[in-house]
Amino acid sequence: MDKTIAILPGDGIGPEIVDAAVKVLSAVSGMFGHTFKMAKCLVGGAAIDAVGAALPPETLAACEASDAVLLGAVGGPKWDALPSDRRPERAALLPLRAKLGLFCNLRPAKVWDALADASPLKPEIVACGLDLLVVRELTGGIYFGAHKRGMDGLSARDDMVYSVSEIERIARAAFEAARRRRGRVTSVDKANVLETSKLWRETVTRLHAAEYADVALEHMYVDNAAMQLVRAPRQFDVILTENMFGDILSDEASQVTGSIGMLPSASLRADGFGLYEPIHGSAPDIAGKDVANPLATILSAAMLLKYSLGLDDEAAAVEDAVGDVLAAGVRTADIARDGTPSVGTRAMGEAVCAALKR
Ligand code: IPM
Ligand code: MG
Repeated sequence: MDKTIAILPGDGIGPEIVDAAVKVLSAVSGMFGHTFKMAKCLVGGAAIDAVGAALPPETLAACEASDAVLLGAVGGPKWDALPSDRRPERAALLPLRAKLGLFCNLRPAKVWDALADASPLKPEIVACGLDLLVVRELTGGIYFGAHKRGMDGLSARDDMVYSVSEIERIARAAFEAARRRRGRVTSVDKANVLETSKLWRETVTRLHAAEYADVALEHMYVDNAAMQLVRAPRQFDVILTENMFGDILSDEASQVTGSIGMLPSASLRADGFGLYEPIHGSAPDIAGKDVANPLATILSAAMLLKYSLGLDDEAAAVEDAVGDVLAAGVRTADIARDGTPSVGTRAMGEAVCAALKR
């Protein structure tokens, strides 16, 4: 299979972790007889420095012309002082999501057997495995409503807007995902206060009754969901929620697994095109030191193989290789137990390549 993957390393640790994932993708293509054309594009602070804009038109065009996009991370202290609409997050990441139509954000959080003791929760709370999927709406809600300051500068507003069609398409994605998993959806909202949440709940309920009655559906207020995630996280299979609640709950879910350096994500369009990135940020404090954990990016590449290229065996091969490497005790510093030896970014990437099996 011949495919084109746009590679957006970005800032901070982005280039190192993306390099490791690109090597894994190259190893997969060699082993399974595919050709992946992978061209690097500028994005984020790196693009601001090089060409003066966080999302250069050539980068957007390259993404649009590709079958999938692999992104490292954007942002860092160097660009924090810019006006907020020119910072890498607002000027690169959000426009990429909106312009590419990536409304469906999948954020799986699972505890790997070999890392079961990494969770800060008591072992009995995460015992027997934790495996949940946050399905976050990614191109609507408060992120994309008007952001305004009052004329006198003494007030501000951010508008939160959702339409029935936006809610239906993300709810559909969650129900479909649940059918391939354990068949449970928890829809998270704040319907006791917000009008958008009331519409969310009505719409999800109606769609469920009409098309997905075989899936178990429960509604939960977001404050309760945040509590339940640390009280009894194994009750969740698929968490369906709007943009900002999903942002917050997915960070919380990642910490429940104990290792934010392990969690991948996919941001998808209805036709399967997608952008894949680790859920962690650019970690400027450890950038360039060959210590960052590349596994979240490598696992994002596995999601890319599966969701955008339809290569399920290849994706499973990458996930199995990661599992084998962890089982063999190979650890980057973030997942190594105190006092135990760790390897660097490059060595971890090489270990995954070496563990790949057809
Ligand atoms: C994420 C990030 C982004 C978001 C930021 C960087 C804009 O936190 O992908 O979760 O809030 O969506
Ligand atoms: Mg976030």
